[in-house]
Amino acid sequence: MKIRVLGSAAGGGFPQWNCNCRNCAGVRAGTLRTRSRTQSSIAVSGRDVTQWALVNASPDILAQLKANPVLQPGRTPRDTAIAAVVLVDAQIDHSTGLFMLRESNRPLQVWCTDGAHADLTGGNPIFRVLSHYCGVERRELKADGSRFTIDGIEGVSWRALAVASKPAPFSPHRDAPQPGDNVALVIGDSVSGGHAVYAPGLGAMEAPVWRAMQSAAIVLVDGTFWSDDEMIAMGLSKKRARDIGHLPQSGAGGMLEWLDRLPIGTRRILIHVNNTNPILDEDSAERAELTRRGIEVAWDGMELLL
Ligand code: MLT
Ligand code: MN
Ligand code: ZN
Repeated sequence: MKIRVLGSAAGGGFPQWNCNCRNCAGVRAGTLRTRSRTQSSIAVSGRDVTQWALVNASPDILAQLKANPVLQPGRTPRDTAIAAVVLVDAQIDHSTGLFMLRESNRPLQVWCTDGAHADLTGGNPIFRVLSHYCGVERRELKADGSRFTIDGIEGVSWRALAVASKPAPFSPHRDAPQPGDNVALVIGDSVSGGHAVYAPGLGAMEAPVWRAMQSAAIVLVDGTFWSDDEMIAMGLSKKRARDIGHLPQSGAGGMLEWLDRLPIGTRRILIHVNNTNPILDEDSAERAELTRRGIEVAWDGMELLL
């Protein structure tokens, strides 16, 4: 099984179009040792290396396809290697890329929970709009940890686990999250028996996802914010990381403490990194702290084998 990181940034990307924080200004000026990053998405392939599951459809999907030609192999006049799309939630950064796939010559197979489906037919009716183009063949993603497989992605097994986070701001229950609004994916290789855990939005560590992380070969987890008040301290927002469903890395009970507790040998990778996060600066003290703890920061084009 192969995982390719298509986009490692959180919503807004890096640099964010209207942002002049230290990181965004630094990457634009070329004065910061870093890489620019597109918005949150990975792709997964199994035994058949010509078929991929797109996990989250980022607003940057077209740039991501260009950067990853394996996803558009060009065998026939109209062609794609994307066999299906799996959504971890209905947030803008994970779902609006579906619009860019509207020229598909068959309905897009999209796996999402009932909660995400309600938001994608209600608050942000992407599925209804797409019915006027290629259409959507929706598959139910159950957030109860039950195993499922995706046609074409042979040798890969999937489980979705409800996680504590937040549905999108346009959801009627933004402030009363329900199980299944956000999920972590446990993506397993049926030959090796190993699995990776992918959780770009994780507001608090709960037992089911923690159990899956403890037995994982690779964890790709919420790297949005370094500190809970990061955007407040920069005068960019009034919201704390935890208010919008993201567990910060630093501080008591933060992601670093959890990652420290994983078995030695677990590959620990932060993904869905917000442009304000100091870990994007490869010369920062925070990045040095990650390196000291054996934690990596995902980058666009990163490839993981399992
Ligand atoms: C989030 O995960 O909170 C998002 O990145 C927000 C967004 O896409 O605007
Ligand atoms: Mn996001
Ligand atoms: Zn910024």
